[in-house]
Order: sequence, then structure tokens, then C-alpha cells
Amino acid sequence: MTKEQRELLEKKEMFRKGGGIKAIEKQHSMGKHTARERLELLFDPGTFVETGLFVKHHASAFGMAEKVIPADGVVTGYGYVEGHLVYAYSQDFTALGGTLGEMHANKIAAVQEEALKTRAPIVAINDSGGARIQEGVNALGGYGKIFTNNIRSSGIIPQICAILGPCAGGAVYSPALMDFVFMVDDISQMFITGPRVLKEVTGETVSSQELGGARIHSEISGCAHFRDSTEEECFARIRKLLVLLTEPEQQKGKEEIQGLRRDQNMDYIVPANPRQPYSMRSVIDGIADRGEFFEYQAEFAPNIRTGFIRLNGRCTGVIANEPMVLAGCLDINASDKAARFIRTCDAFEIPLLTLEDVPGYLPGKSQEYGGIIRHGAKLLYAYAEASVPKVTVITRKAYGGAYIGMCSKHLGADYVFAWPSAEIAVMGAEGAANIIFAKEIRQAEDPEEKRKTCIRQYEEVMMNPYLAAESGYVQDIIVPSQTRERVGAAFHALAHKMEQRIQKKHGNIPL
Ligand code: HXC
Repeated sequence: MTKEQRELLEKKEMFRKGGGIKAIEKQHSMGKHTARERLELLFDPGTFVETGLFVKHHASAFGMAEKVIPADGVVTGYGYVEGHLVYAYSQDFTALGGTLGEMHANKIAAVQEEALKTRAPIVAINDSGGARIQEGVNALGGYGKIFTNNIRSSGIIPQICAILGPCAGGAVYSPALMDFVFMVDDISQMFITGPRVLKEVTGETVSSQELGGARIHSEISGCAHFRDSTEEECFARIRKLLVLLTEPEQQKGKEEIQGLRRDQNMDYIVPANPRQPYSMRSVIDGIADRGEFFEYQAEFAPNIRTGFIRLNGRCTGVIANEPMVLAGCLDINASDKAARFIRTCDAFEIPLLTLEDVPGYLPGKSQEYGGIIRHGAKLLYAYAEASVPKVTVITRKAYGGAYIGMCSKHLGADYVFAWPSAEIAVMGAEGAANIIFAKEIRQAEDPEEKRKTCIRQYEEVMMNPYLAAESGYVQDIIVPSQTRERVGAAFHALAHKMEQRIQKKHGNIPL
């Protein structure tokens, strides 16, 4: 080896140590991995290729001229996940707190642009003290560039973000602009205004985990989509998601779909009593290949379930009312969650399976004041806008506006199936009978007895799937255990669906 070659290797070795042994030990003592260890967890062994190791900041004020920040505090490059090309950047907290200056931002922008050019997914690993204060407006400009690239890539390549340390102030808007946000208990923190400033401004005392930890963003704010207890679990899940998004499994032919497992237990899921809840999760499990469900935002708005299954090998997005929570009603958060998920699937050509058991929109002042009208509208918009194959299965209740909203034929579902237990109507029998038979009930000798008779009468006529099937809004009424086979066959037939839409600059989804 020549002297120059040896020097090169030594230089690389030194830079790869990041902020040095002490800083690495501090990082480990907080239960965190280093930027490079995280990339090892993300990629197939030995496949990560680093770019921009020698990039150096240009700052000079406040003693920055002498400051060496290896890789300028962010490791960038590409690698492979189960053989698929993926770009990534990983902020190095050991190197000046992983702070973002002009050149750090340029490195991130470069991988974003490479990912977009090659149409490969990108994974962002955030662990940073935020804008590098010494670089002033150049640091802020760097964020602006990253946000712009997030928006340019939106809907073209999957953008995945893991928050594995602090992410504060305006910096939070890059994760917020991405498709999938992962957080880890006790490690991740994300807020616009941190606890210290909050104490100064409002006098409120709150810990950083209480203010913006993984649980808060997964359960309450909805800013995170996945929560894990360790970094290892988090990266294993990111890898699984990347495979789901990029790799179709071997798909079966038409004949084999007919033989798709018939789970007889499906026939007993819906209880005879319409007031008794059941778990929609068991319906999802009964339809999915191997019964596997990769749930998205499991802890936020659990009255609607969203996530990915494989159906006949193909990644399929599931949106399902959950009767176990709020009787499966649609509310503000459920509408936002489902609308966002539907648009994510549509952007990445993932077909949509809707499982419906919905008594309506959640009533109440807090919902009306909070804008359920405009939030609920997002769900309608997202469904009608989506041009991917759309199949709906009505398992029980499909009432009123919520019936329309949950991917009805009228919003563009390609196929709607109903189980014999389906009740497709303007509202529940009791409410309906009280309105349309009000006079008869009032004038009856025994109003309570009359009310019961009227309810029964309404139930017999209206609370079934046959009227909708007669009008062509339901294509078929099926025995529950046939669902996997029939839905699989419908998506198979729709595999090459093409829909012409009116060309426009963009629509105006209610926000
Ligand atoms: C420059 C910073 C820095 C920053 C941390 N460091 N944050 N340097 N600019 N924003 C440096 C520290 O001086 C230290 O340098 C090293 O990084 C590690 O930081 P520590 O404080 O020792 O680590 P720790 O105790 O773990 O605390 C981490 C921290 C804290 C909670 C992140 O450093 C902190 O509160 N920093 C300020 C965070 C912040 O307010 N950032 C601006 C957010 S607003 P040495 O040399 O000692 O190793 C923002 C706007 C974005 O980012 C706008 C986008 C539009």
C-alpha cells in the first residue's frame, strides 16, 4: 500500500469514528445506537455504500473554523434491503449533536435527489439538536431545501422516517411531510417547542417524553405511525415495511384463487345481536395471507383499523371499522387517519380493501366544533380520488352518510360484497321507526307495543343487503367464509385496472 493510500484509509477510519469514543459511549449509555450502527440494522449486511464522508462545513464564526465535524454530522448513502435499493441518511448525534448546518443539509438533499432520480425509497434517521446555531440562516435554509425535496418526492417514492433522539422546532416538519414515521419508547422526542422553553413561556412543567415521546405521538397526536420498544425492533419493522412496499410475492393464477383457504370460523364472527360488538381484526386475519396484518397507526383512532396485508401475494391496504371501539363510528381522528392511509396506498399503487361495519358519524358538540364536517370530507375525497382497485365488504352496519363514505359503489368501489348480516340503510331501525311511524306510535292504544311492531316491520323490510343488491350497489351477497376467495378473485380481475381522470393541476382536498 502506498503512503497516500494508507493516509486515505486512516482518514476514513478517523471520520467513521464520528465524535469519538467518549461521545459514542455517551450515546450508548442513553440506550441509543450510533448513526452507523443504525444503518447496519437497516441494511442487508455489508451492502451500505457511504457517500459524502469528506464533506466539510463552511462556517467560521464562534470558533467553527477550527471545528472538525466528521461527515458534517450526518452519514449518507445507499444500500439494499432484502436485495432492494434503498437510500438513507442517519444523523450522528456524537458529531456536534447531529446539528444541521448548510453542508449537512446539502448531503441530505443529495440523497433525497438520488432516491427520487432512481425511484427508490428513502429512510431518514433523525437524531439531532436541530439547526446548527453557529450557521444561522444557512442552517434554516438547509431545512427549507430538505422540506422542498420531501414535497417533491411525495407520492413518487416512499419516504420513511425514524425519530431516534431529539427532533425539535421546525425540524419536525421533515418527518411530518413523510409517509411513515417510526418512534421508539424513551428514545424518541419530537415537538415544536421543547420543555425548557415551555416552562419559560407558560410556566408549565412537563418532561420531554410527556410532551413529545413515542406514546404521545402514537396514541394522541397521530404524528407517528409506528411505535417500538427498541431500535432493533424499529429497524426490523422498517425492513418489513420496505419489503411490503417493494416486493410482490409470487401471485397465484385464477384457478388457485378459487382454492384460497375457506375459514369456516368466519361464518360465526358476526353475533346475532346487532348491538353486540366483535373484533374486525378477526375478519382481517381471516382474509390475509398467513393471517398477517401489518397495522398502521394501531394506537391512534382505534375505531378504524388501517394497515397492509398480502392477499394472494399482493400488498393490499385495509381500511376497517372496528366495532369494539366506539361501535366503529367515524370521528375526526378516524377520518384523518383513514384518508391519509388511503392516499398513501393510492400514491404507491396499493389496492384498497374496505371492511365496513359503521353505524354513522360520532355525534356530539366536540366533534361538530372540531370540524367533523371537513375532516369527514377528507375520507370521501380520498376514496373517490383513489384510482387503484377498490373492493368493499359490508359485514354488518352500513348506515347513512357513513355508508357512502366507506368506499361505497357510489364513491367508485369496483366491487362491493355484503354478508347476509349486512344492514344497509339510512339509519338504525329504532331511530328510523321513531321518525317515520311517529304518528302511528303516538296514536296507538299501547305506544310501546306499537313502537316494537314498527321497529320489527322496518327491520324486516330495510335491514338487509338485498335492497342494495337489487339496485346494483352490492355486486354479490356472500357467505363470510367465501370472503378471502371472492375478494382475492376481484383483485385479480382488477390487476390491470385503468381509469381516465380529468387532467388538472391538483384537486383541493378539504384540510
Ligand atoms: C449547535 C448544538 C446544538 C445546536 C446541541 N449542540 N444543539 N450546537 N447548535 N442547535 C451541541 C452542544 O453544544 C454539544 O456540543 C453537542 O451538540 C451535544 O449537545 P449536548 O447539549 O451536550 O447534549 P445533550 O445534553 O444530550 O442535550 C441535547 C439537546 C441540547 C437536548 C438537543 O443540546 C439542546 O437543547 N440543544 C438545543 C436544541 C435547540 O434548541 N435547537 C434548535 C431547535 S430549533 P459539544 O461541542 O459540547 O459536543 C430548530 C429550527 C429549525 O432547529 C428550523 C427549521 C425551519
